[in-house]
Amino acid sequence: MIVTAAGQEDCPGALEVFWETAAQTDFVSDTERREFVFKYFGYYRDCESALFLVARDDIGVCGYICGVARTREHQALYPISDHLPLFDDLYDEYPAHLHINVHARTRGQGIGAKLLRSFEEALAGATPATSGVHLVTSAGARNVSFYLRNGYTFTVERALGGAGLLFMGKRLITRSRR
Ligand SMILES: CC(C)(COP(=O)(O)OP(=O)(O)OC[C@H]1O[C@@H](n2cnc3c(N)ncnc32)[C@H](O)[C@@H]1OP(=O)(O)O)[C@@H](O)C(=O)NCCC(=O)NCCS
Repeated sequence: MIVTAAGQEDCPGALEVFWETAAQTDFVSDTERREFVFKYFGYYRDCESALFLVARDDIGVCGYICGVARTREHQALYPISDHLPLFDDLYDEYPAHLHINVHARTRGQGIGAKLLRSFEEALAGATPATSGVHLVTSAGARNVSFYLRNGYTFTVERALGGAGLLFMGKRLITRSRR
């Protein structure tokens, strides 16, 4: 299994993983469906392609991670992703955010951990380097233990539309530069 930056040819495989793991698959219209893909997938592929990484095995793409280095620079996402304004006060310390998914056929084999490490290395090595990264999940979700184990130990829970959302942050050690 290898992790690399996604090429054009990886898009269909990554999109397959996206739908296999998607929390929502029923939409009232094609427009709503397209918006869902855009806000969790397409935006990142188009706007921060260097941070769109895929894991590939003999069968094909088995996982991906995507995100941005400085969330506040992506105001286009704020009106369509309600959790972004909700946690905006925390982005000085944890400016980057990510989305990660691993196909069910390969879960529990450490691929998610490897994707996180590769994403964090890409953030830490970028210019300017990013000092912290976060993700937002549901309070009580199974994946919470996965993120805690991987160092996302700064947690803040807030309510949105009756649901408990959990912000999970990790500070990054940035490489010193000459
Ligand atoms: C969360 C996820 C990215 C982790 O990737 P992975 O390659 O399975 O991770 P690892 O092998 O490094 O670690 C295994 C841990 O992943 C989590 N995990 C495994 N299957 C999961 C599932 N179906 N749903 C949520 N989390 C899961 C658990 O925390 C598991 O640890 P545990 O067995 O002690 O409970 C992956 O399981 C996944 O895509 N799950 C479904 C979608 C999801 O939750 N995406 C994240 C949205 S915020």
